[in-house]
Amino acid sequence: MGHRKHLGTWVTVGNVIPPLPHDAADLAELYRHPVADGRTYVRANMISSLDGAATAAGRSGGLGGDGDRRLFQALRTQADVVLVGAATVRAEGYGTPGHPALAIVTRGTVDRTERLYPDGGAEPIVYSGAGSSVDLRDVLADLYDRGLRRVLAEGGPGVLGALLRDGLVDELCLTTAPMVVGGAGKRIVSGPDLPVDRWRRALVCGDSDGYLYTRWLR
Ligand SMILES: NC(=O)c1ccc[n+]([C@@H]2O[C@H](COP(=O)([O-])OP(=O)(O)OC[C@H]3O[C@@H](n4cnc5c(N)ncnc54)[C@H](OP(=O)(O)O)[C@@H]3O)[C@@H](O)[C@H]2O)c1
Repeated sequence: MGHRKHLGTWVTVGNVIPPLPHDAADLAELYRHPVADGRTYVRANMISSLDGAATAAGRSGGLGGDGDRRLFQALRTQADVVLVGAATVRAEGYGTPGHPALAIVTRGTVDRTERLYPDGGAEPIVYSGAGSSVDLRDVLADLYDRGLRRVLAEGGPGVLGALLRDGLVDELCLTTAPMVVGGAGKRIVSGPDLPVDRWRRALVCGDSDGYLYTRWLR
Protein backbone atom coordinates (compact mmCIF):
# COMPACT_ATOMS: atom_id res chain seq x y z
CA MET A 1 0.00 0.00 0.00
CA GLY A 2 1.52 3.36 -0.94
CA HIS A 3 1.05 6.93 0.19
CA ARG A 4 0.95 10.01 -1.98
CA LYS A 5 1.09 13.70 -1.08
CA HIS A 6 -2.05 15.26 -2.48
CA LEU A 7 -2.98 18.93 -2.05
CA GLY A 8 -0.95 19.14 1.14
CA THR A 9 -2.47 16.10 2.89
CA TRP A 10 -1.29 12.53 2.90
CA VAL A 11 -3.80 10.15 1.37
CA THR A 12 -3.55 6.40 1.28
CA VAL A 13 -3.62 4.80 -2.13
CA GLY A 14 -3.81 1.13 -2.94
CA ASN A 15 -6.03 -1.48 -1.42
CA VAL A 16 -8.03 0.76 0.92
CA ILE A 17 -11.36 -0.92 0.26
CA PRO A 18 -11.90 -4.20 2.12
CA PRO A 19 -12.23 -7.15 -0.24
CA LEU A 20 -15.52 -8.97 -0.61
CA PRO A 21 -14.85 -12.17 1.37
CA HIS A 22 -14.20 -15.32 -0.65
CA ASP A 23 -15.06 -17.58 2.23
CA ALA A 24 -18.77 -18.42 2.14
CA ALA A 25 -19.14 -18.29 5.93
CA ASP A 26 -17.47 -14.86 6.11
CA LEU A 27 -19.67 -13.58 3.31
CA ALA A 28 -22.77 -14.91 5.05
CA GLU A 29 -21.72 -13.26 8.31
CA LEU A 30 -21.10 -9.92 6.61
CA TYR A 31 -24.45 -10.05 4.85
CA ARG A 32 -26.61 -11.69 7.52
CA HIS A 33 -30.22 -10.97 6.58
CA PRO A 34 -31.80 -9.12 9.53
CA VAL A 35 -35.23 -10.02 10.87
CA ALA A 36 -37.82 -7.52 12.03
CA ASP A 37 -40.44 -7.80 14.75
CA GLY A 38 -43.90 -8.61 13.44
CA ARG A 39 -43.20 -7.86 9.78
CA THR A 40 -40.99 -8.84 6.88
CA TYR A 41 -37.51 -7.37 6.50
CA VAL A 42 -37.05 -6.44 2.85
CA ARG A 43 -33.57 -6.39 1.40
CA ALA A 44 -33.17 -5.35 -2.22
CA ASN A 45 -30.22 -6.54 -4.27
CA MET A 46 -29.43 -4.68 -7.49
CA ILE A 47 -26.54 -4.03 -9.84
CA SER A 48 -25.79 -0.86 -11.74
CA SER A 49 -23.21 0.26 -14.29
CA LEU A 50 -21.01 3.30 -13.58
CA ASP A 51 -23.38 5.39 -15.67
CA GLY A 52 -26.41 4.20 -13.72
CA ALA A 53 -27.85 1.55 -16.03
CA ALA A 54 -29.59 -1.50 -14.59
CA THR A 55 -28.95 -3.55 -17.71
CA ALA A 56 -26.42 -4.16 -20.45
CA ALA A 57 -27.99 -5.43 -23.67
CA GLY A 58 -31.34 -5.73 -21.89
CA ARG A 59 -30.28 -7.92 -18.97
CA SER A 60 -28.72 -7.31 -15.59
CA GLY A 61 -26.55 -10.39 -16.19
CA GLY A 62 -24.57 -8.37 -18.73
CA LEU A 63 -23.22 -6.28 -15.85
CA GLY A 64 -22.32 -9.18 -13.56
CA GLY A 65 -18.99 -10.60 -12.54
CA ASP A 66 -17.73 -13.47 -10.40
CA GLY A 67 -17.97 -11.60 -7.09
CA ASP A 68 -21.42 -10.31 -7.93
CA ARG A 69 -22.63 -13.81 -8.71
CA ARG A 70 -21.16 -15.07 -5.44
CA LEU A 71 -22.91 -12.34 -3.53
CA PHE A 72 -26.15 -12.96 -5.41
CA GLN A 73 -26.10 -16.58 -4.26
CA ALA A 74 -25.00 -15.70 -0.73
CA LEU A 75 -27.92 -13.32 -0.33
CA ARG A 76 -30.28 -16.03 -1.55
CA THR A 77 -29.03 -18.47 1.05
CA GLN A 78 -29.86 -15.88 3.72
CA ALA A 79 -33.40 -15.24 2.49
CA ASP A 80 -36.68 -17.07 2.96
CA VAL A 81 -38.13 -15.81 -0.31
CA VAL A 82 -37.09 -13.95 -3.46
CA LEU A 83 -39.61 -11.37 -4.63
CA VAL A 84 -39.44 -10.36 -8.28
CA GLY A 85 -41.48 -8.67 -10.98
CA ALA A 86 -42.85 -10.65 -13.90
CA ALA A 87 -40.92 -8.52 -16.42
CA THR A 88 -37.61 -9.54 -14.88
CA VAL A 89 -38.66 -13.17 -14.95
CA ARG A 90 -39.45 -12.82 -18.65
CA ALA A 91 -36.21 -10.96 -19.41
CA GLU A 92 -33.84 -13.12 -17.42
CA GLY A 93 -35.45 -16.54 -17.09
CA TYR A 94 -35.90 -17.26 -13.43
CA GLY A 95 -35.85 -19.87 -10.76
CA THR A 96 -34.70 -20.52 -7.21
CA PRO A 97 -33.74 -24.18 -7.31
CA GLY A 98 -34.57 -25.64 -3.92
CA HIS A 99 -34.14 -22.49 -1.86
CA PRO A 100 -35.42 -19.87 -1.21
CA ALA A 101 -39.09 -19.68 -2.21
CA LEU A 102 -39.93 -17.52 -5.23
CA ALA A 103 -42.72 -14.94 -5.30
CA ILE A 104 -43.68 -13.15 -8.53
CA VAL A 105 -45.94 -10.13 -8.88
CA THR A 106 -47.91 -9.59 -12.07
CA ARG A 107 -50.99 -7.71 -13.19
CA GLY A 108 -51.77 -10.64 -15.44
CA THR A 109 -50.50 -14.18 -15.52
CA VAL A 110 -47.19 -15.96 -15.73
CA ASP A 111 -46.52 -19.29 -17.31
CA ARG A 112 -43.65 -21.58 -18.07
CA THR A 113 -43.58 -20.67 -21.75
CA GLU A 114 -42.25 -17.24 -20.78
CA ARG A 115 -38.99 -18.69 -19.41
CA LEU A 116 -40.37 -18.73 -15.91
CA TYR A 117 -38.85 -20.99 -13.30
CA PRO A 118 -37.37 -23.22 -16.02
CA ASP A 119 -35.14 -25.20 -13.74
CA GLY A 120 -37.56 -27.41 -11.89
CA GLY A 121 -37.48 -25.43 -8.64
CA ALA A 122 -40.45 -25.10 -6.33
CA GLU A 123 -43.65 -23.67 -7.76
CA PRO A 124 -43.56 -19.90 -7.33
CA ILE A 125 -46.14 -18.01 -5.37
CA VAL A 126 -47.79 -15.75 -7.94
CA TYR A 127 -49.51 -12.58 -6.77
CA SER A 128 -51.72 -11.40 -9.60
CA GLY A 129 -53.82 -8.29 -9.65
CA ALA A 130 -56.01 -9.77 -12.42
CA GLY A 131 -55.54 -6.69 -14.58
CA SER A 132 -54.54 -4.20 -11.92
CA SER A 133 -51.78 -3.70 -9.37
CA VAL A 134 -51.61 -5.76 -6.24
CA ASP A 135 -50.95 -3.95 -2.99
CA LEU A 136 -47.38 -4.84 -2.15
CA ARG A 137 -48.15 -4.40 1.54
CA ASP A 138 -50.64 -7.26 1.21
CA VAL A 139 -48.01 -9.32 -0.60
CA LEU A 140 -45.52 -8.83 2.23
CA ALA A 141 -48.16 -9.53 4.87
CA ASP A 142 -49.04 -12.79 3.12
CA LEU A 143 -45.39 -13.80 2.87
CA TYR A 144 -45.03 -13.07 6.57
CA ASP A 145 -48.04 -15.24 7.37
CA ARG A 146 -46.46 -18.05 5.37
CA GLY A 147 -43.37 -17.75 7.57
CA LEU A 148 -41.35 -16.16 4.75
CA ARG A 149 -40.02 -13.20 6.70
CA ARG A 150 -36.62 -12.48 5.18
CA VAL A 151 -37.54 -11.09 1.77
CA LEU A 152 -34.93 -10.58 -0.94
CA ALA A 153 -36.28 -8.23 -3.61
CA GLU A 154 -34.33 -8.85 -6.81
CA GLY A 155 -36.13 -6.22 -8.86
CA GLY A 156 -36.63 -5.21 -11.35
CA PRO A 157 -36.70 -1.43 -11.35
CA GLY A 158 -40.50 -1.33 -11.56
CA VAL A 159 -41.07 -3.49 -8.51
CA LEU A 160 -38.31 -1.78 -6.57
CA GLY A 161 -39.85 1.60 -7.37
CA ALA A 162 -43.24 0.38 -6.18
CA LEU A 163 -41.80 -1.05 -2.97
CA LEU A 164 -39.92 2.18 -2.28
CA ARG A 165 -42.98 4.30 -2.99
CA ASP A 166 -44.78 2.39 -0.26
CA GLY A 167 -41.83 2.63 2.14
CA LEU A 168 -41.36 -1.13 2.15
CA VAL A 169 -37.61 -1.47 1.58
CA ASP A 170 -35.34 -1.75 4.62
CA GLU A 171 -32.04 -2.21 2.87
CA LEU A 172 -30.38 -1.92 -0.51
CA CYS A 173 -27.41 -4.06 -1.51
CA LEU A 174 -25.99 -2.32 -4.55
CA THR A 175 -23.22 -3.66 -6.75
CA THR A 176 -21.54 -1.12 -9.01
CA ALA A 177 -20.06 -2.74 -12.10
CA PRO A 178 -16.90 -1.13 -13.56
CA MET A 179 -18.64 -0.58 -16.89
CA VAL A 180 -20.09 2.31 -18.85
CA VAL A 181 -22.88 1.15 -21.13
CA GLY A 182 -24.76 4.24 -22.32
CA GLY A 183 -27.99 3.50 -24.16
CA ALA A 184 -31.50 3.75 -22.80
CA GLY A 185 -31.36 1.11 -20.08
CA LYS A 186 -33.46 1.75 -16.99
CA ARG A 187 -31.94 2.81 -13.70
CA ILE A 188 -32.35 0.42 -10.79
CA VAL A 189 -35.53 2.23 -9.72
CA SER A 190 -38.30 3.32 -12.07
CA GLY A 191 -41.73 4.84 -11.62
CA PRO A 192 -42.93 8.15 -10.23
CA ASP A 193 -40.68 10.55 -8.32
CA LEU A 194 -39.95 9.51 -4.76
CA PRO A 195 -39.42 11.88 -1.85
CA VAL A 196 -35.69 12.60 -1.54
CA ASP A 197 -34.47 10.26 1.10
CA ARG A 198 -31.00 9.93 2.62
CA TRP A 199 -29.83 6.38 3.35
CA ARG A 200 -27.12 5.23 5.74
CA ARG A 201 -24.07 3.54 4.26
CA ALA A 202 -23.49 0.29 6.14
CA LEU A 203 -20.81 -1.47 4.10
CA VAL A 204 -18.35 -0.97 1.26
CA CYS A 205 -16.31 -3.81 -0.25
CA GLY A 206 -14.53 -4.33 -3.53
CA ASP A 207 -12.84 -6.96 -5.60
CA SER A 208 -9.87 -7.22 -7.92
CA ASP A 209 -12.18 -7.00 -10.97
CA GLY A 210 -13.08 -3.44 -9.99
CA TYR A 211 -16.59 -4.11 -8.68
CA LEU A 212 -17.87 -2.20 -5.66
CA TYR A 213 -20.29 -3.80 -3.21
CA THR A 214 -22.26 -1.49 -0.96
CA ARG A 215 -24.99 -1.96 1.59
CA TRP A 216 -27.38 0.88 2.45
CA LEU A 217 -29.97 1.07 5.23
CA ARG A 218 -33.08 3.22 5.52
N1 LIG B 1 -29.80 -4.30 -12.41
C1 LIG B 1 -30.48 -5.13 -11.67
O1 LIG B 1 -30.08 -5.42 -10.53
C2 LIG B 1 -31.76 -5.73 -12.20
C3 LIG B 1 -32.53 -6.52 -11.36
C4 LIG B 1 -33.69 -7.08 -11.88
C5 LIG B 1 -34.06 -6.83 -13.18
N2 LIG B 1 -33.28 -6.06 -13.97
C6 LIG B 1 -33.70 -5.79 -15.36
O2 LIG B 1 -34.84 -4.96 -15.30
C7 LIG B 1 -35.65 -5.20 -16.45
C8 LIG B 1 -37.08 -5.45 -15.99
O3 LIG B 1 -37.45 -4.44 -15.11
P1 LIG B 1 -38.89 -3.77 -15.16
O4 LIG B 1 -38.86 -2.58 -14.30
O5 LIG B 1 -39.33 -3.63 -16.58
O6 LIG B 1 -39.80 -4.89 -14.57
P2 LIG B 1 -39.99 -5.59 -13.14
O7 LIG B 1 -39.92 -4.60 -12.04
O8 LIG B 1 -39.18 -6.82 -13.07
O9 LIG B 1 -41.45 -6.11 -13.33
C9 LIG B 1 -42.48 -5.22 -13.62
C10 LIG B 1 -43.69 -6.06 -13.73
O10 LIG B 1 -43.99 -6.58 -12.46
C11 LIG B 1 -45.39 -6.63 -12.31
N3 LIG B 1 -45.73 -5.71 -11.24
C12 LIG B 1 -44.98 -4.72 -10.71
N4 LIG B 1 -45.62 -4.13 -9.69
C13 LIG B 1 -46.80 -4.78 -9.58
C14 LIG B 1 -47.91 -4.65 -8.73
N5 LIG B 1 -47.95 -3.72 -7.74
N6 LIG B 1 -48.96 -5.47 -8.90
C15 LIG B 1 -48.95 -6.42 -9.86
N7 LIG B 1 -47.92 -6.58 -10.71
C16 LIG B 1 -46.87 -5.77 -10.56
C17 LIG B 1 -45.97 -6.26 -13.65
O11 LIG B 1 -45.99 -7.48 -14.36
P3 LIG B 1 -46.94 -7.79 -15.62
O12 LIG B 1 -46.29 -7.10 -16.77
O13 LIG B 1 -46.93 -9.28 -15.78
O14 LIG B 1 -48.27 -7.25 -15.29
C18 LIG B 1 -44.92 -5.33 -14.20
O15 LIG B 1 -44.96 -5.20 -15.59
C19 LIG B 1 -35.07 -6.39 -17.16
O16 LIG B 1 -34.35 -5.91 -18.27
C20 LIG B 1 -34.14 -7.01 -16.14
O17 LIG B 1 -33.06 -7.64 -16.76
C21 LIG B 1 -32.15 -5.49 -13.50
